[in-house]
Amino acid sequence: MKVQLGVNIDHVATLRQARRAAFPDPVDAAAICLSAGADYIVVHWRKDGRHIQTKDVALLCKYFPKKVHLECSYTPEAEKIALKYKPYSVCIVPEQPGEVTTMGGLNFTPAVQKRIAQMVERLHKKGILVSLFISPVADEVRMAARLGADIVELCTRDYSEATSPKQAQRRLQELSLAALLAKELGLEVHAGHGLDYLNVLAVADIGGMRCMNIGFAIITRSLFAGLPQAVEEMKDLL
Ligand code: PXP
Repeated sequence: MKVQLGVNIDHVATLRQARRAAFPDPVDAAAICLSAGADYIVVHWRKDGRHIQTKDVALLCKYFPKKVHLECSYTPEAEKIALKYKPYSVCIVPEQPGEVTTMGGLNFTPAVQKRIAQMVERLHKKGILVSLFISPVADEVRMAARLGADIVELCTRDYSEATSPKQAQRRLQELSLAALLAKELGLEVHAGHGLDYLNVLAVADIGGMRCMNIGFAIITRSLFAGLPQAVEEMKDLL
């Protein structure tokens, strides 16, 4: 089975917000990505509103039902938006004020476990699939299954930042083992963070890998190649 591609279009909105303008519009970007072969559109709603706005979530969910994968934290405010606009799926991620990007997988303290379990239940009641963004570690995979997730998104940050082929190989091994366990536990396996045209293949080749969520590399490539070509090139690799 081919690996699916979720294109994260946050940085189309970053560009728009740089001038507080009406364009470039993430809705236009989503339409282009989908017609170029993207399987899903990924957006991260952040409390600080640095890129995707609530109205973007509303419009994307309206125009592209079954195609929007919403990343957000487990705050009541984020949950309210997810429940209101009903994306196809929600990926719960950790969010720290001031971070440049998501720094890693969820930290499952007892309070966070309780909060996520409640959120998963309420999202499921609305028919929304739930993904948890986790480090590729066996205990975290088991925790995701215990909390009722449908999907785990394995964080590829450490892999993408590996400083030697040996280190990259070790990170890939961790990802493979986590993917294997997730499959055994009945979870769908996604991966994302820091993936690009050069490092994506090794992750896509991991057994059981279903979907790669990629943003920065595709949107920055699109500045020179155009968005349809940037998406097509990535889709061809998968
Ligand atoms: N998956 C998750 C959970 C993320 O938080 C991000 C970054 O927003 C991505 C995937 C995409 O990462 P990148 O922009 O580095 O491709």
